[in-house]
Amino acid sequence: MIGFARIANQLACDGVPLSAIADAEGTPVYVYSAATLRARYRELDAAFGAYPHTLHYALKANSTLALVRLLRTLGSAADANSIWEIETARKAGFQPSEIVFTGVGKSAAELECGVSLGLKAINVESAGELARIEAIAERTGRRARVAIRINPDIDAKSHPHISTGLKINKFGVPIDTARELWTTIHGRRALELVAIHVHVGSQVTTLEPLRRAAALVARLANDVVRAGVTLEYLDLGGGLGISYDGGDVPSASDYAAALVAEVRHTGLPIVVEPGRTIAGPAGALVARVIDLKPRTADSHFAVIDAGMTELLRPALYGAFHRVEAVQPRETPEQEYEIVGPVCESSDVIGRDRTMTRLEVGDLVAIRDAGAYGSAMASNYNRRPLPAEVLVDEGRWKVIRRRQTVDEMVALETES
Ligand code: LLP
Repeated sequence: MIGFARIANQLACDGVPLSAIADAEGTPVYVYSAATLRARYRELDAAFGAYPHTLHYALKANSTLALVRLLRTLGSAADANSIWEIETARKAGFQPSEIVFTGVGKSAAELECGVSLGLKAINVESAGELARIEAIAERTGRRARVAIRINPDIDAKSHPHISTGLKINKFGVPIDTARELWTTIHGRRALELVAIHVHVGSQVTTLEPLRRAAALVARLANDVVRAGVTLEYLDLGGGLGISYDGGDVPSASDYAAALVAEVRHTGLPIVVEPGRTIAGPAGALVARVIDLKPRTADSHFAVIDAGMTELLRPALYGAFHRVEAVQPRETPEQEYEIVGPVCESSDVIGRDRTMTRLEVGDLVAIRDAGAYGSAMASNYNRRPLPAEVLVDEGRWKVIRRRQTVDEMVALETES
């Protein structure tokens, strides 16, 4: 059985009961389904059909090595957002020519690294950054491959924290600036313009903003080509959302068809940088109930041993994640506020959830936590980073062991 499904009432991952993993490894623990990861990657890849395309998995969603390696074996390329994600991608086996480097604030050291490695592209976020890249390339006698990230002033209609395509957002350059930049790049010895890039936001659940952004990039690409520059591809960013609550979201094939329809006339290959749509549904955070107490006349607090330190999304964006009892009891349903152990009232994992009765010691699974879950975990309250387990074909292995306090304090001096 593939993914997270019940076997005789017990929630399992790729056929392995989550209780077996929690009993052996402790909680909180991230559990990933290799079969789901493969299926999500392949579905998106297949959705583009014969149209030339490359999926650059966005490591920021989840850069745990074993998962990145697995995606590489499927044929994925990589999108890295920092020098450290580049290093991680390299450790996972990616060649520099398979890595695009995105990100709004690349330090001098990061640009130096990007230029010297000869990455597939550095996605440029400003005129100043382009000048710094050129200076490094000239000094080191290289030709840096760059893409210009445009800010299309398009509303992705996602949460404001993760919408990036509006003029007021810090990302990319306005179209007029992009025109000036590509005119400048043309004829420069140390720079090669290989693509136009756009990313309007994450958890985008309507196709319209993605379609409009793709159409704009295609239009600009035609202008670039008319100006005598040969582009290699169009980078249309990430952003395809997933259904956290069972509601409708665009399918991979609708998404791919929308993008292809907008750019086909350019004849240029498509690059996308998906993170969430591949990794999100492949992971669950498994936690144990550690306390129960009354809240209102009709509801209880269920305090679990995972909180905003392990999964920040609910506290940071008010994000919804399904919470399910791993072995539900056959008793009437009750209302719960599922909260973490961290000393903040924002540390709520699930509000007003109706579930079968929980008892201290019960396990719960917080679903669709494979993307932006472990990657955003912190040590607040000196909580160790959680263990991570990958289930593959009925076997499971720890792909990241739980951090220890000694490891946490190892970087500190006592006086
Ligand atoms: N490309 C660029 C340039 C990006 O900034 C991002 C995400 C992606 C690709 C991948 O987007 P995806 O396919 O995963 O939507 N922490 C937030 C999400 C932040 C996304 C940041 N950028 C969350 O938990 O919802």
